[in-house]
Amino acid sequence: MANQNKIPVIINGAAGKMGREVVKAVSQASDMTIMGAIDTSLEHQGKDIGELAGLSEPLEVPITNQLEPMLGYVAGERQMLPGVIVDFTHPSGVYDNVRSAIAYGIRPVVGTTGLSPQQLQDLADFAEKASTGCLIIPNFSIGMVLLQQAAVTASQYFDHVEIIELHHNQKADAPSGTAIQTAQMLAEMGKSFNPAIVKEEEKLKGARGSDAGEGIRIHSIRLPGLIAHQEVIFGAAGQIYTLRHDTSDRACYMPGVLLAIRKVQQLKSLVYGLEKIL
Ligand SMILES: NC(=O)c1ccc[n+]([C@@H]2O[C@H](COP(=O)([O-])OP(=O)(O)OC[C@H]3O[C@@H](n4cnc5c(N)ncnc54)[C@H](O)[C@@H]3O)[C@@H](O)[C@H]2O)c1
Repeated sequence: MANQNKIPVIINGAAGKMGREVVKAVSQASDMTIMGAIDTSLEHQGKDIGELAGLSEPLEVPITNQLEPMLGYVAGERQMLPGVIVDFTHPSGVYDNVRSAIAYGIRPVVGTTGLSPQQLQDLADFAEKASTGCLIIPNFSIGMVLLQQAAVTASQYFDHVEIIELHHNQKADAPSGTAIQTAQMLAEMGKSFNPAIVKEEEKLKGARGSDAGEGIRIHSIRLPGLIAHQEVIFGAAGQIYTLRHDTSDRACYMPGVLLAIRKVQQLKSLVYGLEKIL
């Protein structure tokens, strides 16, 4: 496929755990080409991302921390399809990254979690004004979408539910974006959960998790050895219904990432959640 028919992709957070996986997946997609790799980590500046991602050959794309010049460079490639930037960075930088990309007409595909509801609304308004597609996907795995759909169905029949999310201990934000999204989906069912049976007293603050709205509690576990896991536990008299999703390899996110890179080309506003583009 000639380069002008390929989707030009910038990978932000390219030296990170998810970024390296995205480098591998995008480099193998025949309809995409990696135009740039951004990462703020000083130890990786100038390194070839193919080598860093463990590919057999270098990709001749060096890591840089110069986001704006890279956005300008890809935006200036008029002979190519509209550019996409995939962001797996850090909650502290993702809002500015996405705003900058939209300002240059580069479409963001965002996996980084931790954006506040206000930041999400601001970015949606900004993307709408700029008529630029933007995808924010708190979880790229199909198994999680199926879990959430099953949870929504179960919530019609159960009035008691708690969510437990478990992640590796390098995760910066808690609770996970996926757990928040799952709780929101249940809260939108138009009822409150977990009616109080007794007056509860927390002897240690946080023991009952955090209330994500409509009485739905989220509990966050952080341990080395975990990757990303989530349980939604429904209870009723005499029965427990547990839904659980386990990630054992970050490769599980890549079909969703590649799909999002292709779909964001057709969008003119911000869309939140993988289920909206399946
Ligand atoms: N949506 C999903 O399906 C999904 C799946 C896994 C992880 N995540 C999220 O993706 C994010 C990254 O996860 P990870 O495990 O790869 O983390 P990581 O720490 O391994 O990698 C993050 C990389 O981003 C770089 N970075 C930090 N701030 C930056 C900035 N402002 N600009 C450019 N680069 C920056 C870091 O140097 C690092 O190399 C987290 O928010 C995590 O919760 C989402």
